[in-house]
Amino acid sequence: MARRQYSSSSSSTSPFSLVVFIMFSILASTQQPAAAAASLKVGFYKSSCPSVEAVVRRAVTRAVSRDPGLGAGIIRMHFHDCFVRGCDGSVLLKSEPGGKKTERDHPANNPTLRGFEPIDEAKSNLESICPNTVSCADILAFAARDSSFHLGRITYAVPAGRRDGRISLFDDIPANLPPPSFTAAQLAASFARKGLTADDMVALSGAHSIGVAHCSSFSARLYSFNATHAQDPLLDGAYAAELKRRCPVGGGGDVAVGLDATPDRLDGNYYGELRKGRGLLSSDQTLMESALTKKRVVGFASGGKGGGAWAGKFAKAMVKMGAIEVLTGSRGEIRKRCDFVN
Ligand code: HEM
Ligand SMILES: *[C@@H]1O[C@H](CO)[C@@H](O)[C@H](O)[C@H]1NC(C)=O
Repeated sequence: MARRQYSSSSSSTSPFSLVVFIMFSILASTQQPAAAAASLKVGFYKSSCPSVEAVVRRAVTRAVSRDPGLGAGIIRMHFHDCFVRGCDGSVLLKSEPGGKKTERDHPANNPTLRGFEPIDEAKSNLESICPNTVSCADILAFAARDSSFHLGRITYAVPAGRRDGRISLFDDIPANLPPPSFTAAQLAASFARKGLTADDMVALSGAHSIGVAHCSSFSARLYSFNATHAQDPLLDGAYAAELKRRCPVGGGGDVAVGLDATPDRLDGNYYGELRKGRGLLSSDQTLMESALTKKRVVGFASGGKGGGAWAGKFAKAMVKMGAIEVLTGSRGEIRKRCDFVN
């Protein structure tokens, strides 16, 4: 838009304005991602709803102290929101009765995605304090940060000002959410399409130090890996035996296994597990195998018990992820409830 204005005003004029126009165009095109991120602001609700972060934090604290797994669910939900149509709360939308299926109905989300209740609780409290003001997309971004604090003592400021989308499509999932069968190179390409680097991807994968995966997400590694190996040769032997016990052939459908040994603690131990061949998902273990990502994994693994180096990178990458294709200004809407459009 700015570019169009400039070119129309420069249509009559000198070489100097042409040079300025070219410089401006270059600047405008290279600064795009930064500009999008900059449109979100820390303290966005400072005057319109000063208690927003306290209200969200209260709902998250209540939920996570009852069930830490809900914190894992919320962090995963923010990822699934941001990767599909940007961080616009589209993952929260239910299908209208008799209507088309939404993101939320897709097997990547249903039935395993969890943590919807604390988001709805925060929303309904906020609607009574400051109606029509806070987007569900922002509530989810705050809640993911609060979950990171509860489970990992990780703190960061969340730029806000996202607006809620009105579209959520089942069919958007496959092209946007990477499956656990992806190699490191495929994962990096998938993240690159969202403006995230391979380093961001490795840091964000540290979220797999909390929560669970169900047998169906990794049992191919145990029984039907490929034509020459029934079992994924990258899997540590003792770990594979334990997984087979918990997920018997063709069974264990509903069984959930911790993504790492301490699934209620968000920390850098996940990377140490990868070094030992104890990554649960193929997409986790592949990070240790590819030259593209291995150095980072080893670096994070040796960052000490607290994973100090990792925690900072994780926080930065969460903020970056939280700015993907956001709707701001007058785009989208402020939903009245998070599961349906207005
Ligand atoms: C790198 C690509 C990724 C792939 C292929 C992937 C895939 C998966 C899969 C298959 C599960 C288990 C689902 C189940 O069986 O119940 C899972 C769980 C989870 N993922 Fe990811 N994920 C990726 C990246 C991320 C990112 C970037 C985050 C957040 C920053 C994240 C957060 C989580 C969390 C917290 C869980 C546990 C959820 C719970 O316990 O409810 N994942 N992921
Ligand atoms: C099966 O996987 C192993 C280990 O990744 C690999 O060496 C082998 O070439 C694969 N076999 C086939 C048929 O793809």
